[in-house]
Amino acid sequence: MGKAVCFGITCLDILVPGLDPSEFSKETIRLDDFSYSTGGDAINEAVTLRKLGHEPILMTVLADDAMGRLLTDLGRSRGVNMDHVKKAETHQTAVSIVCVHKDGERNFIVNNGSDNEIGEETADWDAAKEAGVFCVGSAYGAKGLTECLPAVLKKAKELGLVTCVDIMIGSEYVGKESEADPSAFLRYADYVFPNRSEAKYMTGESKPDAMAESLLAMGAGCVLLKDGENGCCLYRRAGGAILRKTFIPAVRCDVVDTTGAGDNFLAGFAAGLLEGRSDEECAKLATATAAASVRYLGAAGLKDRAEVEEILGTMQ
Ligand SMILES: Nc1ncnc2c1ncn2[C@@H]1O[C@H](COP(=O)(O)OP(=O)(O)OP(=O)(O)O)[C@@H](O)[C@H]1O
Ligand SMILES: [Mg+2]
Repeated sequence: MGKAVCFGITCLDILVPGLDPSEFSKETIRLDDFSYSTGGDAINEAVTLRKLGHEPILMTVLADDAMGRLLTDLGRSRGVNMDHVKKAETHQTAVSIVCVHKDGERNFIVNNGSDNEIGEETADWDAAKEAGVFCVGSAYGAKGLTECLPAVLKKAKELGLVTCVDIMIGSEYVGKESEADPSAFLRYADYVFPNRSEAKYMTGESKPDAMAESLLAMGAGCVLLKDGENGCCLYRRAGGAILRKTFIPAVRCDVVDTTGAGDNFLAGFAAGLLEGRSDEECAKLATATAAASVRYLGAAGLKDRAEVEEILGTMQ
């Protein structure tokens, strides 16, 4: 069992299923049920890391309000260390209302919440130095979070932690590629986990190999380029200019909901790092974890390590 910091966005997801957009013209919409759950990359990663047998330490910002207390309880009940979560000064806890249409498409209604207060002081270094891995959920997900990454990742590396950075282009950054300078933080990222559209945003390239070359040139130690149901490619330098590339296909399974596939992938990879596995083995564990998770509704449906191991056993 190893410790990992999960640094980044945490919010409350309110899931409203089975809506037809035309229903918004009614004053009241009555549904059989809707549910809520933990949301945001950082806590999603933490919950899965725990299920894989590790000790996640969540570093995020929540308000001292009803939603914040609910998230703290939910995190604790799932075995996440919530003791180092910082209190928001001026914002309410971040909430995302996820309207799931009958055809599976989604619309998100989000408040201007506590994720806006994530910054350098969100990291608790006394707690972080106990950990082996420092995971960032949602680079480009919020401005303060993105701007503090060079300093935060630099410090994590100085303390000897392995750094993993997941990407999520939030509304503040959409269409503003010129304001994004990935090299500012990539030089401190041992592993970076963009999907193809995120890598295009960060590099301006449209071919996968060129995207990876560019991210490595900006300083990333290793690139995990994700491509949904197709799988992922692991890129790194094998001395000098030679690019080493390994493709790991996704595992075919009965897909229920792909929400959080990327978060579960990162959690699986970080678990592998904590267990001293090679990069390729980490990527396989990540792929098996993501495949297990898409068989359930929501990002946190995965049951336990055993079902991930079962899938891993079927992979070459
Ligand atoms: N339909 C699927 N079936 C099996 N595995 C999948 C499926 N979708 C995704 N995965 C696995 O999860 C990994 C990450 O998924 P994806 O490329 O969608 O990341 P992402 O875009 O970051 O996801 P997210 O929307 O959660 O942020 C893939 O590389 C693959 O291994
Ligand atoms: Mg993602």
